[in-house]
Order: sequence, then C-alpha cells, then structure tokens
Amino acid sequence: MVNRVKYEPVTTDDEDIQKSNHHDSRPSKTRYLAPFIIAILTIVVAALTGISGFLWGRHFQKRLTTSEWFEFPGGEDITFQYEKIFAVSGEESQAQWDALFPIGLGFVQHPMISPNESCLAVYHQLHCLDTIRRGYWAAAQRPSPDQTVAPRHIRHCIDYLRQSLMCHADTNLEAIDADLGGTRGHGSSRKCRNFSQVTEWAVTWRTNNETVADIADLMN
Ligand SMILES: *[C@@H]1O[C@H](CO)[C@@H](O)[C@H](O)[C@H]1NC(C)=O
Ligand SMILES: *[C@@H]1O[C@H](CO)[C@@H](O)[C@H](O)[C@H]1NC(C)=O
Ligand SMILES: *[C@@H]1O[C@H](CO)[C@@H](O)[C@H](O)[C@H]1NC(C)=O
Repeated sequence: MVNRVKYEPVTTDDEDIQKSNHHDSRPSKTRYLAPFIIAILTIVVAALTGISGFLWGRHFQKRLTTSEWFEFPGGEDITFQYEKIFAVSGEESQAQWDALFPIGLGFVQHPMISPNESCLAVYHQLHCLDTIRRGYWAAAQRPSPDQTVAPRHIRHCIDYLRQSLMCHADTNLEAIDADLGGTRGHGSSRKCRNFSQVTEWAVTWRTNNETVADIADLMN
C-alpha cells in the first residue's frame, strides 16, 4: 500500500531533465524559473477567472433587468409625500387640482406622434380621480347642493382608473412599515416620469386654449 504513494515519472521528458540535472551540477535556470512561471500563470488564470466572472455577472444582471424585470416608467427619483390638500374638499383643494391641468387640458396634436387630436391619458386619469374625490365628499358631506357628481361619471371613473393602473402596472417597490404591517405608499422612493415635462409637452402641442374654469359646467 505504501508503494502506491510514491511519485512515478510521468513522461520521458521528466527523465531527461533529471538526467541533465544530474550531469550538470550547476543549478538549472529552469529549476528557478519554474516556480516563478507557475506563480505568474496562477495570477493570470486567477485574473482571467475574475474578469470573466465579473463580465458574466454584469451580463446576467443586464439580462435580469431586461427580461425578468420591468423597466421603470421614467428616470426621476421621487418620494411620495402625503399631500392632504389633494385629498379633501373645498375651493383651495379644487384650485390645487385645477393647477395640475395645462392650458389645452392635455388635448394635443403632433405631426408624428398624434396627427389627429388626442388626449394624454394622465390628464384624463387625473380628471377622473378628481371627479371621484368631489363625488365622495359630496356624498359624505350631504347636503351640499353645489358639490354633486353624476353617479355615471363616478362609475366610469372607477373602472377607467382600475384599467389605467393595470395598464401602467407600476413596478416601483413600496417599503413595508413594520409597525403598520403594510405600506402606506407615501415615503417610498420611486422612479417616475417628470410630470412637468409631460405638461410642457402637452402645452406645446395643445389643440385649444381652454382652462378648467372654461369647462366647469361640463365637469359633472
Ligand atoms: C384621423 O382622423 C381621420 C378623420 O376622422 C380618420 O379618417 C383617420 O383614420 C384618423 N387617423 C388616425 C391615425 O386615427
Ligand atoms: C422636471 O423637469 C423640469 C423641466 O424640465 C425641471 O425643471 C425639473 O427640475 C425636473 N424635475 C425633477 C424632479 O428632476
Ligand atoms: C392659443 O393662444 C395663443 C396665444 O394667444 C395663440 O397664438 C394660439 O393660436 C391659440 N391657440 C388656439 C388653438 O386657439
């Protein structure tokens, strides 16, 4: 059994080297170079392994973002904050909502993007949510004859917003509040489109000069 442990010559070349070493008593150059070359080769192999591993990792990461994850809708870093003024009723609240709409109300025409007149969906969606807000408070604060919204408008808006949310399928991640055991949505950082830029575009390509005040009668 002990015999099996001994090293045996692998090739005749090895024997030749041993012989030549035996004949020449001077230390061979290759004998000193060998560990050096092995060390260099080890470093090169390690470096190549590291580099290829890094590149593969990057490739995998890229593949993950493009095929197994969904791009965020825009490049803006925004953290939602609770803005109560948009949630309540009253003239001040209505003024804030009205200010979200550009002149032209988001109806646009563009030679390439929309040769026929179109409405940018975001303004329709905001209008719908505003309508639900007014309808809710009208019901909650009854009687309030000046704040009524037709039920059919609310019905349209609830389902329209459901489909809009599903269409947009916002994949931003909302942190869970441990105390709450859920998420409020507010306070989480997210990627967003730049709403100001969308509004600037809507103004540039608007088809009319109307404001929310001009169509107040049609809002219900
Ligand atoms: C634009 O409107 C015209 C006239 O209503 C219509 O014939 C045409 O199909 C529309 N084009 C598009 C792209 O919707
Ligand atoms: C959005 O775009 C506007 C106009 O280009 C710019 O002034 C503003 O800084 C941008 N907002 C953010 C959060 O980057
Ligand atoms: C809107 O107003 C601007 C400035 O007064 C005017 O140049 C433009 O023609 C108007 N656009 C429409 C669609 O009426």
